[in-house]
Amino acid sequence: MSETLLDVHKLTCRFGGLIAVNEVSFAVQRDEIFGLIGPNGAGKTTLFNLITGLTPATSGRLTYRGDDIGRLKPHQIAAKGIARTFQNIRLFGNLSAQQNVMVSQHVHTRSGVVAGVFGLPGARSEERMVREEAMQLLEMVNLADRAHVKARNFPYGDQRRLEIARALALKPQLLLLDEPGAGMNPNEKASLSAFIRDVKDKFKLTIVLIEHNVPLVMGLCDRIAVLNFGELIALGNPAAVQNDRAVIEAYLGDEP
Ligand SMILES: Nc1ncnc2c1ncn2[C@@H]1O[C@H](COP(=O)(O)OP(=O)(O)O)[C@@H](O)[C@H]1O
Ligand SMILES: [Mg+2]
Repeated sequence: MSETLLDVHKLTCRFGGLIAVNEVSFAVQRDEIFGLIGPNGAGKTTLFNLITGLTPATSGRLTYRGDDIGRLKPHQIAAKGIARTFQNIRLFGNLSAQQNVMVSQHVHTRSGVVAGVFGLPGARSEERMVREEAMQLLEMVNLADRAHVKARNFPYGDQRRLEIARALALKPQLLLLDEPGAGMNPNEKASLSAFIRDVKDKFKLTIVLIEHNVPLVMGLCDRIAVLNFGELIALGNPAAVQNDRAVIEAYLGDEP
């Protein structure tokens, strides 16, 4: 039987006179890959910001595993098991790939971020474990051979995968990916689907994916929600969404 992990109920977000997200409702089931598509400015990233507590909702309700998370701070939501990546990559450019992952891991360790990353006394044995775990995560995203390279020196596609490794270090159950294919080269894009599936299976994740590549979304997602001007205009399996008249008019019809 399916189990609702995240329930979004009549969620609304206003920025002054602009309604970025307008009474949007949907539920994400455990174990699915849930796609979120729509034209630029449709409100997709804002929806992720609402779910992760970065932006307060104007109205509506957000429930995760039965708990109201609507008023929680970002770190409290992360601790509940929701992790994300950003459309505009947010890595620590001057820290190495490994250190970027370790900063996230220290949410789950006792000695804290500063002691951990800079190897202060009292944190050594925990430190070794954390380093090894970080290397395993970097192997998972194919960056282990460059663990000591500063994040800002990676090409975009690699930075996207490093962000995923960093999100995984939080040990989430729900992973929100905001345009993971943006900036990837054609080879990386071609393997993105398999990569996401692999990560999902290895970490037993539920995934919500924002992505502009329609064939990728159609091939990868179990269900798809379509936003247009902040409103949910369609929700269903890929075939149903692809043939939905409102979707074709608003979005898919514009595709070359
Ligand atoms: N912090 C903000 N302040 C004001 N307007 C915002 C803010 N964030 C997003 N918006 C506006 O909200 C709308 C939705 O943006 P966004 O969620 O980024 O869309 P998408 O990710 O679907 O492209 C856009 O019109 C955008 O300009
Ligand atoms: Mg966006």
